[in-house]
Amino acid sequence: MDKKAAEQKIQELSEKLHYYNYKYYQESVSEISDYEFDMMLKELIELEKQFPDLKSSDSPSQRVGGDITKNFETVEHKIPMLSLGNTYSKEELDDFDGRVKRGLGDEEYEYFCELKFDGVAISLHYENGKLIRGVTRGDGSKGDDITNNAKTIRTIPLKVRGNDFPEYFEARGEVFLPREAFNEINREREENGEALLANPRNAASGTLKMQDSGVVAKRKLDCYLYSYAGEDLPIDSHEEGIKQLEKFGFNVSQTYEKCQNINEVFEFINEWEEKRHSLPVDTDGIVIKVNSLAQQEQLGFTAKSPRWAIAYKYKAESSTTILKEITYQVGRTGAVTPVANLEPVSLAGTTVKRASLHNANEIARLDLRVGDTVHVEKGGEIIPKITAVDLTKRDLGSSEVEYIKNCPECGTELVRAEGEAVHYCPNKKGCPPQIKGSIEHYIQRKAADIDSMGERTIHLLYEKGLVKNIADLYDLTYEDVFELEGFKDLSTKNLLKGIEESKQIPFENILFGLGIRFVGKTVAEKLAAHFKNIDNLSRASFEELIEVPEIGERIAQSVVEYFQDQDNIELIERLKSAGLQFEIKETIIEQKGNALEGKSLVVSGVFEHYGRDEIKGVIKQYGGKVVSAISGKVDILVAGENMGPAKRQKAEKLGVKIIDETEFRSLIKEN
Ligand code: IVH
Repeated sequence: MDKKAAEQKIQELSEKLHYYNYKYYQESVSEISDYEFDMMLKELIELEKQFPDLKSSDSPSQRVGGDITKNFETVEHKIPMLSLGNTYSKEELDDFDGRVKRGLGDEEYEYFCELKFDGVAISLHYENGKLIRGVTRGDGSKGDDITNNAKTIRTIPLKVRGNDFPEYFEARGEVFLPREAFNEINREREENGEALLANPRNAASGTLKMQDSGVVAKRKLDCYLYSYAGEDLPIDSHEEGIKQLEKFGFNVSQTYEKCQNINEVFEFINEWEEKRHSLPVDTDGIVIKVNSLAQQEQLGFTAKSPRWAIAYKYKAESSTTILKEITYQVGRTGAVTPVANLEPVSLAGTTVKRASLHNANEIARLDLRVGDTVHVEKGGEIIPKITAVDLTKRDLGSSEVEYIKNCPECGTELVRAEGEAVHYCPNKKGCPPQIKGSIEHYIQRKAADIDSMGERTIHLLYEKGLVKNIADLYDLTYEDVFELEGFKDLSTKNLLKGIEESKQIPFENILFGLGIRFVGKTVAEKLAAHFKNIDNLSRASFEELIEVPEIGERIAQSVVEYFQDQDNIELIERLKSAGLQFEIKETIIEQKGNALEGKSLVVSGVFEHYGRDEIKGVIKQYGGKVVSAISGKVDILVAGENMGPAKRQKAEKLGVKIIDETEFRSLIKEN
């Protein structure tokens, strides 16, 4: 493609991608399939790679990240980012209203109420309608330039909608990690033996400060905007600012309301006290703002915060109950977690029986004793926590909790590394939950993907002494499995087939499956891509490891230690002999011809000469593009045996050319 054509194509793709992105993330409408979207994005990225000077700063390709920021530059806020005065009491809110009334000399006024989102404040700078900078609040007068990371947040427009934007403005709001996404990350971290993130707010703030925007892009951050700022903006009220942000295509939470007086504000507060838990983001209160900008100006600021706004904070829901017992759980990595077993108590609509105590420090911090009356609280987090002990109710005969010294599962003496809060059972290869956990970790979809196996089977295999580590899986015979409780001929064959198929799973997945501490899926992918095979990785020094982007000292140390252990080397040797993949496969498509250059093809049904994936590969070898769904943009439908009639009808209706396998082969001259 020549440069002129590329420029046109890039513009066309960018416009479409901006449009579909807006529709999807702001209006929840998918006009095209995810696949088609990804293909368009891929095409754009390819073109921008070929013609780097055609890549604009607001290209939709920025969404996938990839730029690395080593040091975030400090940026001064043109307009300071102030904080808000806050209160937990309605009386103080009445006082606030009194001050507003006096400050405005008994003039009419109205309030604009919003939820107070618990995330990280950010200011987005737009010049000529394009996002040019994203800055964190920092200390209020200067923050960090996190533009590359902000661009990966899909609901933040890289280019605003419409044309009537001022030359320069700022959109301010809160970046947050939706609770769902947060839980997902923690599930993953638990699996990887990494410390859990405390709450969605910390997670959002940590994510915004990551160096690799490619990793940020995967984290599903979102952003609600609540302030339109700039000089001489053509608006008279906060409400108009919010409406303008909506028109520009920003994500504004539809929870705001205008209130005519403080009583309506109280109603708003009551209305959201419970309802706020159903929002995708944690909220900790309400923000009340005087609506008129002229009146805001009249009221002015104190040293720290505006006199025209205040935050009302909800109290966390809490209750008291009795601590009956402390039990201990051992995870896959050997980490021991103490659990408080409570007298059941009702809290925020659910019955609470257990609370996590995290580690020994937490027990000491709370000075917790069995039999104590404790305060339990349920904030945004799903697992309730103990916040304090009611010392007035303490039984004088009670004694301090003695943290266990030995593993409750295997009896091995626990260890606690220098500077770490968590106790570990070091008996990796002999402690039942660790062994079973490591196998469960290995068989999961993101790793060896042995879906014919589950927790129960692992338990049976372990109890029978057949499997003590992941390499043992590959020595299992038909008889071994057939004799397990509940296994018949078909289920036995199915299980063995699943194990056999795992030998084709790519190296990076297997590397993740090994369960090296701190090596999650993304880290495994980075290590595999960098070192290419397990031998290089196993020989890598600490220094070589930390050279790899996003690999920190903790991960590097863990990898080095893993390969220093002779048992692990032997395990890998056994897996190698079993035929597992320990090298990355570079899938370079060897170009065989150009018969399909520039054409989009759909394949459907079964073929005589090709497997399903094989024919797709052949299409690419001849310059064609494979798409999944029939649309007007498809050039050719390659119809195999047993293709569904609906597909054919649709293709006919849209005038897509339909060819059979023989015609396809003659097209690429392969017979
Ligand atoms: S307005 C001058 N509106 O709360 C007023 N802030 O303590 C500027 N926040 O730093 C803030 N939701 O991070 C405003 N609807 C909302 C908010 C909100 C959350 C946060 C924001 C700010 C802090 C103020």
